[in-house]
Amino acid sequence: MRAFIVVSNTGVTAPIFDIRSLASTSGRLDLICRSLIASLLTPKGLRKDTTFFAILKGPPNPPLTIIARGSKIDTLPIDEVSIARIIKRVMSREHIRGFEAKRKDLKYVLNILSKSKYKLIYLREDGENIENIEFYEDTNYAFILGDQKGLSRADEKLLDKYGANIVSLGRVPYMTSFCISVINYVLDMRIY
Ligand SMILES: C[S@@+](CC[C@H](N)C(=O)[O-])C[C@H]1O[C@@H](n2cnc3c(N)ncnc32)[C@H](O)[C@@H]1O
Repeated sequence: MRAFIVVSNTGVTAPIFDIRSLASTSGRLDLICRSLIASLLTPKGLRKDTTFFAILKGPPNPPLTIIARGSKIDTLPIDEVSIARIIKRVMSREHIRGFEAKRKDLKYVLNILSKSKYKLIYLREDGENIENIEFYEDTNYAFILGDQKGLSRADEKLLDKYGANIVSLGRVPYMTSFCISVINYVLDMRIY
């Protein structure tokens, strides 16, 4: 099983954004939408073994965690505007199969993943190179990534407390959604 957790320092925590000006009105939920697509979608359909978590910490009422479970979602659109529309509906308490919005923070998500025996991996440019990391088929992996600002000190401390290993895709900083695609590629190549 795989999980991707993206922490958004600015993502709004209520359905107050304009879909037509997504990036500028939502505190960069466009990044979350692209990350969700990169986590869960392939041209052949959904990754049923993968769960995506967006920890939103922006105004007006943080925190809010959006959860998208590949195992439960029937279909997913491939464009970020349609994903943003779904997130807006989920924030408005509409029931959409496979999606959930909870007034919970990173600690809550790390807690449930740790209890479910996920190995936590924090992606950061200066971590251990992924080429040196072994991945095993019978292990669950949860990858934690930052947004355009990276993770706060407090969130990094929390990850340290939960024993997350810091892993790098190289010294060049990439966009969050691109990192997720690379991780999926590496895991697909090495363990499937
Ligand atoms: C756009 S980067 C953040 C850029 C930079 N950390 C900053 O604060 O300006 C978004 C996230 O993608 C992940 N990331 C980007 N490049 C990476 C790399 N080369 N190796 C590992 N993770 C990376 C990290 O989790 C990072 O927080």
